[in-house]
Amino acid sequence: MNVTLETICKRRAVKVFEPVDISEGIREQILNAARHAPSSFNSQPYRLYWIQTGKERTAAAKLCMGQMPAETASALIVVVADIGSLTATSRSQLEWMRSRSEFSEAKIRDYERTAKIGRILFMPGPFGIFGAVKWGLFWLLNLWKVMGMPPTSRQDLFKWATKSTSLACQNLMIAAEALGINTCPMEGFDGRRLAKYLGLSTRYHEIVMVIAMGKKSQTYVEPPQWRRPLHATVSIL
Ligand SMILES: Cc1cc2nc3c(=O)[nH]c(=O)nc-3n(C[C@H](O)[C@H](O)[C@H](O)COP(=O)(O)O)c2cc1C
Repeated sequence: MNVTLETICKRRAVKVFEPVDISEGIREQILNAARHAPSSFNSQPYRLYWIQTGKERTAAAKLCMGQMPAETASALIVVVADIGSLTATSRSQLEWMRSRSEFSEAKIRDYERTAKIGRILFMPGPFGIFGAVKWGLFWLLNLWKVMGMPPTSRQDLFKWATKSTSLACQNLMIAAEALGINTCPMEGFDGRRLAKYLGLSTRYHEIVMVIAMGKKSQTYVEPPQWRRPLHATVSIL
């Protein structure tokens, strides 16, 4: 089997880890793979908190309801959808484009314009007022043109950001697996307390997943992996 496919199929959600030293080099490769995931408008609307020092890890594991993968992990990665980073990200991309010779002035202006429109489209505005106006406007436009609906509420924006964030999570887990480190994605955590512990903003941040990472314990016996058959999952048109 192709080595990438083999890594994808080999990954399991491991529930008990034994301690392992995850070197800085390995950590960087794993995180680098995460940020290479595709994201909507290349907006990379997430932030990753890598928790590995003992005291912090113990505190975070407790907020993952003391689940065994969290308690035994060598590192916990809290993956946060971040809808407050959009302006800074587009500015940073613009700076990057300006620093490179392969982008013409016209291309840069084009990006600048698109980024501005994107910012306006993705802004819910104070008290969601702009979001409601936007919803009405797009609803009317949809009557005569095929055009879909941009996120109009804060909840929509988090849903939008969660898609890109989840892809980063999967990249991270596959990269870890490829480097001999096992993982367990978790949504069993106290989001409010964990967000407070990390000093996150209730307005801009939402924890999507916590990923426990370590080396599978020799005592842990994986259950057989079950998946629905392809025909139950896929429609080929
Ligand atoms: C979004 C998400 C949340 C999950 N939350 C937990 C969790 O809180 N605790 C846990 O032990 N496993 C959790 N899992 C792992 C699943 O139980 C596991 O992926 C699934 O049973 C399939 O097993 P496999 O990944 O080994 O194939 C979660 C997985 C996903 C994708």
